[in-house]
Amino acid sequence: MEQPASHALLYSITRMQDLFAVLTPGDEEWQLAQSIDPAKIPGHVAIIMDGNGRWAKMRSLPRIAGHRAGIEPVRTVVETCARLGVECLTLYAFSVENWKRPRSEVDTLWRLLRYYLKAELPRLMRNNIRLTVIGRVESLPVAAQAELEAAVERTARNTGLRVNLAINYGGRTELADAMNRILEEARGKGTLQKLSVDEEMISANLYTGGQPDPDLLIRTSGEMRISNFLLWQIAYAELYVTETYWPDFKRIDFLKAVVEYQKRDRRFGGLTNGTSRPAEWMDEPLGVPAP
Ligand code: FPP
Repeated sequence: MEQPASHALLYSITRMQDLFAVLTPGDEEWQLAQSIDPAKIPGHVAIIMDGNGRWAKMRSLPRIAGHRAGIEPVRTVVETCARLGVECLTLYAFSVENWKRPRSEVDTLWRLLRYYLKAELPRLMRNNIRLTVIGRVESLPVAAQAELEAAVERTARNTGLRVNLAINYGGRTELADAMNRILEEARGKGTLQKLSVDEEMISANLYTGGQPDPDLLIRTSGEMRISNFLLWQIAYAELYVTETYWPDFKRIDFLKAVVEYQKRDRRFGGLTNGTSRPAEWMDEPLGVPAP
């Protein structure tokens, strides 16, 4: 007898219809989308948007032109994730190390952020998208903070895709902040003496507390680095690096990353299909002399 499709499966098939609604039947994107299994859509996608500067340099443009051109792919991936039924999307927009860049470049990034928030808010609302910020936002220029706070507040009750903007974010800083929150809570409760920290406590106190860990981490522009991004959360994420510079990253590139992700055999340190070690292995000689 045919099994009834699970709620989650029905949900993802419906979401895939939202994607097909904007594709052209028969073209490459359509074919790629058809090869995507709606039951295996990554729940959380994280992206290191890299290569804006090189994109601009190739065109003899100032670096800020690359950042400006980087806004369109942000719109594209947000929309595509919403249409695919991805639960969370985390975008690395500004790292704690990015303050080392020229003042003019940093200021332009804040201006672009404010422009993006203003321009995109109606669309985020229409599409039920919730925006959150991860990072030490309190060090940002006040105008950028205010715009961010307003967007976070306006979208707080939306229940669709969650977009985390990682701004003034560092993975190590996040871990230090999490440890300090744990300590502070224990001090408040008077339980510091017998405090014992476990993995659940750390996860719950990260900026992403309560969200699933990323399943897929995409990095554009070919660098094979993590760059202090979501250090704890990406323990078992599938990595996908493309040579494409961020401003050139299109919907088709995102679909290619999802297709590649779905080919991976995710074992989480175990064996394929979650099977445990076969019992007969226990009797195999180890090939080392007995102690
Ligand atoms: C990395 O490229 C990109 C950044 C540090 C900034 C990311 C910002 C955007 C994509 C602009 C819009 C984003 C939002 C959320 C409004 P790079 O400058 O390091 O490039 P390079 O490695 O080629 O020099």
